[in-house]
Amino acid sequence: MPPPTAWPLARVLAHRCGGALAPENTLAGLDAAAACGCRGVEFDVMLSGDGSPVLIHDETLERTTSGRGRVADAGDEVLRGLDAGAWFAPRFAGEQIPFLDACAARCRALNLSVNLEIKPSTGYEAETGRVAAGHARRLWAGALPPLLSSFSEEALAAAAEAAPELPRALLVERVPHDWRERCARVGAVALHAEATSLDRGVVEAVRATGLWMASYTVNAIEYAEMLFEWGVDCVITDRPDRVRAPSSPLAGRS
Ligand code: G3P
Ligand code: MG
Repeated sequence: MPPPTAWPLARVLAHRCGGALAPENTLAGLDAAAACGCRGVEFDVMLSGDGSPVLIHDETLERTTSGRGRVADAGDEVLRGLDAGAWFAPRFAGEQIPFLDACAARCRALNLSVNLEIKPSTGYEAETGRVAAGHARRLWAGALPPLLSSFSEEALAAAAEAAPELPRALLVERVPHDWRERCARVGAVALHAEATSLDRGVVEAVRATGLWMASYTVNAIEYAEMLFEWGVDCVITDRPDRVRAPSSPLAGRS
């Protein structure tokens, strides 16, 4: 049984907002993705020390911002004062860590479909899932809802409780032997796996159960074409300016 309906998001999503075109997890990244014709994005959401959902990948601030220490220990005002663009290139100096509400407004204005990855700081798995889902429900009301994904099943379970109507995806590096049970446990509609761990057989087995399949991080055009040919529904890429969705619709889809 292939998935009953077509994958709802863009089939190519820019990784961490703008992939390699802009500093990760910033509004500039959303602009860059849209500017090159990409129609969807993936980004990472974590809670600040005040419990606000913000876009950032690492649990600590050092790599991508001018700050120091743990995101979970930094209050909103501290985060608002940090530079999240200069590390990437001087022309992005002044770019801030986006709060999820500003990100949602920009995605909606740019008409970008969204895979919101719930990325909890250690120890905040359930709270991050609950808060991210609650905000997503409100911020995307009346629009195509974001697909919530996470490596944390605890976060996905909390998201399901907070906003059961929002679609969820289990995120894995390698597809585990018990992927069916794990997806079922969190009510996932999709499995997202690291691309090099996949082969045609795995993709077909996942899709045969009615789950959608997405893969990351796919930067080579030929590799993306192969994954789409295997039946992968979506690729997440650092090169949204290069990687393109196939023009023909998937066989067996409505
Ligand atoms: O959601 C796919 C991908 O973003 C997962 O890896 O570490 O880039 O968040 P990471
Ligand atoms: Mg991510």
